[in-house]
Amino acid sequence: MPNFAREQKSDAGYLDIAANTHGAEKGALVHRALRRISRARPRVVEVGPGGGAAVTYLAAQLNDDGNTASDLALDVHLTLIEAPGVVSQSLARAVETFNGVGKCELRHGFAQDIGTLLAEPVDVVSASALMHEVYSYGGGYAGLHAMMRTLPTVLTPGGFFAYRDVYAVEGPSLHERVIQSYNSRAWLTFLRLFTPQYLAEGVHPYHRADDEVVARQNSRIVPVAELDRATCAVITAPVGLFREIQRHYLTFRDHVWRSGTLGLTPVLDGDLAADWIDFRAGHKRVHYRLGDEVPWVSAGQRRMLAAMSESYADHHTIDSDIFDSVTDVVLLAFLDAAESGDATCRQVWEAWLLREGRETYAYMTADQLLTAFVVHSAESETDTVLMPVHVGDITRMTGTTTTGS
Ligand SMILES: C[S@@+](CC[C@H](N)C(=O)[O-])C[C@H]1O[C@@H](n2cnc3c(N)ncnc32)[C@H](O)[C@@H]1O
Repeated sequence: MPNFAREQKSDAGYLDIAANTHGAEKGALVHRALRRISRARPRVVEVGPGGGAAVTYLAAQLNDDGNTASDLALDVHLTLIEAPGVVSQSLARAVETFNGVGKCELRHGFAQDIGTLLAEPVDVVSASALMHEVYSYGGGYAGLHAMMRTLPTVLTPGGFFAYRDVYAVEGPSLHERVIQSYNSRAWLTFLRLFTPQYLAEGVHPYHRADDEVVARQNSRIVPVAELDRATCAVITAPVGLFREIQRHYLTFRDHVWRSGTLGLTPVLDGDLAADWIDFRAGHKRVHYRLGDEVPWVSAGQRRMLAAMSESYADHHTIDSDIFDSVTDVVLLAFLDAAESGDATCRQVWEAWLLREGRETYAYMTADQLLTAFVVHSAESETDTVLMPVHVGDITRMTGTTTTGS
């Protein structure tokens, strides 16, 4: 697949940690589907297992089922299909764990080729957070539709495709033009650095005349690559493109935090990462560690940060709104350094760009996604059409949207 950065995708800090949480959410639909399969020794395929969060969860569930003498046989045969060249230590451990309760094998290949990768039809195919990757590296919408047409051909009659993802938009069109204003310097710098390269090199659908990005500062039109970050920008662009820029800013920020080069590293995984003050308002206590001195945090800023923080065991806590503001300030200095050629910052920026910076979430509303599955699967050479059957087949879990058909 062109542009698929295997090495960066295999980065242990990414697949094994950052992208490997929420196993219960990722494995819930496949476990439910298995309960509806009456055959002994059911065959399951998971495509794009990443760090194996769903595999570990499923192994634990099947083990519990075995202990409670449930009808669900333990003898599940699970085949994992991971993109060629992607490796994960935590997936290897998950495979081992699964082999304690059933049979699990890992194969390398592409989701789009699933029709030629399996020797016989299977009862359940599952995937989590896969579609944006197939869109971004596997042929855009045509690649996605081809996969939807292929899936029914690898399922036994009455089999299931269980899919989970983190985001379903509510707005009808990616191309609807909206106006947004930006005045944070960090955001303006990110817009300037990221947008032109994403539009030129990313896989995205914003090629129409009506998709043009028009940025104004002091009422004058300014090329995005030349935005002055000391001046508020009013930008008109497709809503889907704004979503992409904002999502990329957040994944970039996460990447820099985890790189340790920012000088402050929040705890991003485990219980301490979810120390909520007000979950609905998105307000929490951030646990963080202050690293060695770096050029982007001055001595004065370090003292200010300490004054606004509290000690907690071997680290500090701080209000999340304050932490976000501090991050914006520090990230700005970091981006400045990257822009002016600092080797460390440049390398962190490039690594993120390679791994995620050209990707697009193939945003569809839940209705559009389900319709696409029905329409394209109906065009396969089988009698199987992928569609929800029970009310509970479409489930929303803890603030994310999950669809299964
Ligand atoms: C965003 S990660 C999600 C990992 C895991 N499913 C989860 O939810 O934690 C996407 C996974 O799909 C894999 N992948 C990407 N494109 C693929 C393709 N065309 N075929 C098979 N796997 C693919 C990636 O290597 C990665 O493991």
